[in-house]
Amino acid sequence: MIFDDLRAIQLRHGFLPKAELESLSSRTQTPLYQIHSVASFYPHFHLAPPARAEVRVCADMSCHLNGACELRAEIESRFLNARSSEVEVRDVSCLGRCDHAPAIAVNDRIFTAVSAERAESLIRAALRGEELHDDHPQHARVTCASDPYPDAEKYGVLRALVATKDWDRLLALLKEAELRGLGGAGFPTSMKWDLVRKQPVAEKYVVCNADESEPGTIKDRFIMTHLPHLLVEGMILAGVVTGAKQGILYIRHEYHLQEEILGEEIRRAYRAGLLGKNILGSGLEFDLRIFVSPGGYICGEESALIEAIEGHRAEPRNKPPFPGVVGLWQKPTVINNVETFINVPQILARGVDWYKAAGRGGSRGLKFVGVSGHCARPGIYEVPLGVTMREVLFDHAGGVRNGRTLKAFAPSGPSSGYLPASLVEVRLDFKALADAGSMLGSGAIVVCDDTTCMLDMALNAIRFYRNESCGKCVPCRVGSQKMVDLLLRWTEGGLPDSQYRADLALLDELSLAMSQASICGLGQIVPAPIQSVLKHFRAELDAHILHGKCPSGICFSAASRAGEANRVGIRP
Ligand SMILES: Cc1cc2nc3c(=O)[nH]c(=O)nc-3n(C[C@H](O)[C@H](O)[C@H](O)COP(=O)(O)O)c2cc1C
Ligand code: SF4
Ligand code: FES
Repeated sequence: MIFDDLRAIQLRHGFLPKAELESLSSRTQTPLYQIHSVASFYPHFHLAPPARAEVRVCADMSCHLNGACELRAEIESRFLNARSSEVEVRDVSCLGRCDHAPAIAVNDRIFTAVSAERAESLIRAALRGEELHDDHPQHARVTCASDPYPDAEKYGVLRALVATKDWDRLLALLKEAELRGLGGAGFPTSMKWDLVRKQPVAEKYVVCNADESEPGTIKDRFIMTHLPHLLVEGMILAGVVTGAKQGILYIRHEYHLQEEILGEEIRRAYRAGLLGKNILGSGLEFDLRIFVSPGGYICGEESALIEAIEGHRAEPRNKPPFPGVVGLWQKPTVINNVETFINVPQILARGVDWYKAAGRGGSRGLKFVGVSGHCARPGIYEVPLGVTMREVLFDHAGGVRNGRTLKAFAPSGPSSGYLPASLVEVRLDFKALADAGSMLGSGAIVVCDDTTCMLDMALNAIRFYRNESCGKCVPCRVGSQKMVDLLLRWTEGGLPDSQYRADLALLDELSLAMSQASICGLGQIVPAPIQSVLKHFRAELDAHILHGKCPSGICFSAASRAGEANRVGIRP
């Protein structure tokens, strides 16, 4: 409830005045320090009055590759003389519009493929007090191969299941299909659901993780826009199978359109008797509501997400116990990614044999991938799991744009690290990508052409983690800053050989400490971008560090030499 109160106060005042927080504290008998600790944690709450035009420029991978640094510098120069109470320009983490980069937010409204001219006119409109409206790319509903009901009545699997109530068969089919979580970790879904089902507790929950905040990750946005009925059906199936009577769809703050679409779908499902106290007259019940995230990448980590729903700071819990045993409100909780949920009705409607045949080379099912960065046709593509990266990048996403050549790609945002073009035949598959030293992750493919500086990209990725670290544990909080400092120094070049060797040893020690001692996956994965660059692009690092040369001409530009660029990546 605390978020509703804080949002209401912010809506009235534009920020959270101290007096209002004090009054909330006495009204709700909550210590002020607790309210303050929550309000100060989330990026969408303001403790001081914001500027009339609050401008946030996405600084992460896909936007970085599409001119975000220049855009920010240009916006700043156009409003050089504006008072800070009028215009404030800041970086922001990925806004979930990586396929339409560069993206910016003005007064919390999101705009895509923004030029400096457009940014200026939006800011001037905000200064005049005009109401701004989000850009809504890809609104028109498209037909997807994943939809088992293109023409037939929707929710067919649920209708059949509430008649038979054969939960064992459903779990057996998911097990036979070998459905794995598609939010990043790849945990077997049938095991998770079975664990929750077996808990001898009446109160259980189903949570959908639609937080999707890792740079490059945009597939859930697409799924929620085009297949909302499959997501709602998947969540109801999880509820009736595990005995959970309440579902929560946790969606990122920046997905206003998808929130509307899903809200409509949920209302439709209630009207059709598919949700509520007596589903289709079966005596089964399941209620579903939407929870809008107060913001932050860490909220996607499942236990941090649970903490956020409970109204706390989104700090990950120590595990075990896992959410399947001790989850939301300390009760057993199924928590799955959007795409995992939509796979369940697909498998049950079409059969395990269809699911096996839908993938390639032994992989199973279809996969939505987001492709962004330097590709000709950035977007979301639905492909058989197991296709090669080459097919995705060249046949679907149109190859590298402007006739340039492929230098590297991140198979799944910063956490997958970067692979060189020579590995473009790697298959899009859990094992194939793990064998290549990367991961399938959430399918957030970021393309880098031959003008890209890989040290700059490693630093960009690690800055993202540094910015998004929740700060709860030392290895991640301190380690991510140390790693940024180290790489920043490398971009300045001219280190003696002995210092370079000492830095490399320190980097390895730091990487080990972070991957082994961080509480959650965020801190554990921070070293991946630079370790992958060390493995595949070592000569490029040597050129920077030992010879003061950036082969791509990015790190030693006049701008960065002049110290203008604590924000590395200002292109000449
Ligand atoms: C820092 C961090 C962020 C994450 N963000 C997401 C996210 O946005 N969406 C998601 O489904 N999983 C995310 N995960 C993974 C979840 O913790 C969890 O494994 C997943 O929701 C489980 O669903 P699945 O089994 O269907 O993949 C994140 C993990 C970490 C460590
Ligand atoms: S690893 Fe980082 S994000 Fe995770 S709990 Fe520790 S400080 Fe927070
Ligand atoms: S919107 Fe900028 S990286 Fe995703």
